[in-house]
Amino acid sequence: MSKKILITGGAGFIGSHVVRLFVNKYPDYRIINLDALTYAGNLENLKDAENAPNYFFEKADILKADEIKNIFEKHSITDVIHLAAESHVDRSILSPLDFIYTNIIGTVNLLNIAKDSWKENLPDHRFYHISTDEVYGTLGEAGLFTEISPYAPNSPYSASKASSDHFVRAYGETYKLPYVISNCSNNYGPNQFPEKLIPLFINNIIHKKSLPVYGKGENTRDWLYVIDHARAIDVVFHEGKDNETYNIGGFNEWKNMDLVKLLCKMMDEKLKRSPGESDQLITFIKDRPGHDFRYAIDASKIYKALGWKPSVTFEEGLGHTIDWYMENQEWLSHVTSGDYQQYYQNQYSHR
Ligand code: NAD
Ligand code: DAU
Repeated sequence: MSKKILITGGAGFIGSHVVRLFVNKYPDYRIINLDALTYAGNLENLKDAENAPNYFFEKADILKADEIKNIFEKHSITDVIHLAAESHVDRSILSPLDFIYTNIIGTVNLLNIAKDSWKENLPDHRFYHISTDEVYGTLGEAGLFTEISPYAPNSPYSASKASSDHFVRAYGETYKLPYVISNCSNNYGPNQFPEKLIPLFINNIIHKKSLPVYGKGENTRDWLYVIDHARAIDVVFHEGKDNETYNIGGFNEWKNMDLVKLLCKMMDEKLKRSPGESDQLITFIKDRPGHDFRYAIDASKIYKALGWKPSVTFEEGLGHTIDWYMENQEWLSHVTSGDYQQYYQNQYSHR
């Protein structure tokens, strides 16, 4: 039987790359993109895929169980790849409850509907939950997160993601719902909403606005190009073992300040500005509360067991990303109008 895959959050940053990859690579599958189109969801991200015969879009909220159940029935969904979430740590500090609703209750709604819809032949189906390395908490100067690192989330966002991971696992144990979970490091690339570090700073450099670095800029993140994450999701979905977790990352750690300086240098070259010009925009502001010091993924399980590894270096990926934002100013101006201005004021004006 050909698969009918429900991809939730497919209009968002990572989801849109996953939808595009699956629509193009698997013409025999039906890909149903379910998205509530919150501030982070944007169908402009999928303009090139929207006319494909195997692509369907359903605007729906994962909190509305009846709507989701109807969509399951209408499309005879066989598998789920679940990306829909509130995804920004700073917003979770401003309004934690939104994260509890979407990330926990929304996930449990999907689990209930999947288990009930597939009850006749559970082993033929798969619920793939997309999670984050932030569930493991923070690292000191040394060490890496592995699949057996204890969960120790520090922000409302990561606590909500940790909780959703636990529910997925619990449904696997209690109801025998076949699942797989992957926990990925920080993504970057085209179509990322400019509230996250890299697209925010690219946008600000273009417009010669200040670059608000939290604290001393010593925190470290492990960066992966979004298209490589989508490739990993494809591999885990098809080859991953039931009821297993896979960490996804590219062994690519950067201290925030080193990354910001590299970004300034690359953009000064591309914008034909004088060397060091964008460095002048760097401004140190009050730290994020509960700011995790360091994330770093040990991705050896997925490298060895599934043969996946990243396809681009960080410099290549960052180059493509900067080019994409410079060539898609209209996309940027659409997403930064309206509510974004309000969010920006709230987040940065008092610090
Ligand atoms: P995003 O914020 O860009 O997109 C989230 C999408 O979910 C949006 O299209 C939004 O409209 C949709 N959505 C939100 N609430 C919804 C609801 N109630 N019902 C239906 N749709 C809803 O997020 P992203 O950065 O693409 O992240 C996608 C997933 O990957 C998330 O689960 C996130 O936790 C995880 N993740 C992200 C990263 C990263 O670096 N961005 C890294 C690891 C894991
Ligand atoms: O690790 C995976 C996670 O990565 C995902 O699960 C999240 O969805 C995603 O948002 C991301 O979380 P981070 O908090 O690491 O990403 P963010 O881009 O918000 O911040 C990256 C680093 O940059 C972090 O140390 C905070 C810092 N930062 C961020 C912003 C927005 C700044 O210094 N200034 C800023 O204005």
